[in-house]
Amino acid sequence: MNEILTVDNLEKVYPNGTRALNDVSFKVNKGEFLVVIGLSGSGKSTLLRCINRLHDPTAGSIRFNGSEVTELKGSPLRSLRAKIGMIFQHFNLVPRKTVMTNVLTGTLSRTGTIASIFGIFSQEDKKRAKELIDLVGLTGKEQQRADNLSGGQQQRVAIARALMQNPEILLADEPVASLDPSTSHSVMNYLKKVQEELGVTVICNLHFLSLVREYGTRVIALKDGKLVFEGPPTDIDEQWFQTIYGEDAVEVTIN
Ligand SMILES: Nc1ncnc2c1ncn2[C@@H]1O[C@H](COP(=O)(O)OP(=O)(O)OP(=O)(O)O)[C@@H](O)[C@H]1O
Ligand SMILES: [Mg+2]
Repeated sequence: MNEILTVDNLEKVYPNGTRALNDVSFKVNKGEFLVVIGLSGSGKSTLLRCINRLHDPTAGSIRFNGSEVTELKGSPLRSLRAKIGMIFQHFNLVPRKTVMTNVLTGTLSRTGTIASIFGIFSQEDKKRAKELIDLVGLTGKEQQRADNLSGGQQQRVAIARALMQNPEILLADEPVASLDPSTSHSVMNYLKKVQEELGVTVICNLHFLSLVREYGTRVIALKDGKLVFEGPPTDIDEQWFQTIYGEDAVEVTIN
């Protein structure tokens, strides 16, 4: 198959002794929309952070396009990170800067910090930023300050910023957890567009199963740091739901 990411026997033990990932193995194919689910504390964020090497795994292997990335340092690590975009629950924009400047910040991995601090961006980068702002439906908002936007709009700026680095994979850690239901769908639809139209592989942590069913092409579930489910969203029946979320859990639907 056309694998972009292969994770084998991944383990992450934090310095305080917490085993956040325990023998996790799975593959991701190019162009998939993989959703990661599991209870709070099950290891979802830790997994994403190991993939882009914000955290160092304790053991196991992560291969990106066939190359081992768990040991990378220095410039090879920077070039790995340039290929992996990330968006977060709380958007992490620079609040006082404009939409345009925030999106241009996505070139950081290429431009370097100094150029970006002084706002030295090429015409080509500005053109690309404008295209991406259009792509996420924010045409006309280029000069608006990020902190004057709604949550959903801010997350769309974050998507455009992540795309500025032309990533092969986009990691999204609970991208809609701070948003209301209809805004959540809007943001998820833009992520879907990124996957379907730009061919970017998306790996997304989500809480609501209804969103998982609507947007995911495949699901993995973590429980206490272990992989307990892997398959299409339609395979998660009542029994799997209880295995993943516990006997007493009740499914909440987001419409
Ligand atoms: N920096 C850290 N140091 C020590 N333990 C940590 C650290 N980060 C996370 N943990 C622990 O690792 C486990 C997995 O945490 P993680 O944040 O990956 O879970 P999660 O599935 O993303 O949860 P949530 O749904 O609440 O975001 C938890 O027990 C957590 O307390
Ligand atoms: Mg998390």
